[in-house]
Amino acid sequence: MSLVDDARRVRENAYAPYSNFKVGAAIRAASGEVYLGVNVENVAYPEGTCAEAGAIAAMIAAGDAEIAEVAVIADSPVPVSPCGGCRQKLAEFGRGEVKVTLATTDGTTRETTLGDLLPGAFDQAQMERA
Ligand code: THU
Repeated sequence: MSLVDDARRVRENAYAPYSNFKVGAAIRAASGEVYLGVNVENVAYPEGTCAEAGAIAAMIAAGDAEIAEVAVIADSPVPVSPCGGCRQKLAEFGRGEVKVTLATTDGTTRETTLGDLLPGAFDQAQMERA
């Protein structure tokens, strides 16, 4: 099963009663393990979390920390575009070359990379004088 299929399957479990926009994310770590996440909304809207953040949390909790591949899926007219915060969160754990597949539930996909999603990322090198 592909990483997009993993994301598609877990998306069903998203908790999105306020936006009605369910998102599923799957991360394959360098170890080969796959970690899944969904968006989890809250009645206090800013407390909601994105699917990508959930998958990252599962990966870190399991003791993995190197992203090898990412897939994100939603019922969107064009392949879902990760929010700015999630781009920064993903960049923390993956190299720029890491493949990211963005998908719609209709079957349209767009392939990109972590580097293309977040050009000019803030990284630790910028803090070297601190
Ligand atoms: N959302 C994600 O989970 N990931 C994305 O890449 C885009 C947006 C969620 C957050 C919120 O629960 C809903 O989609 C609408 O913004």
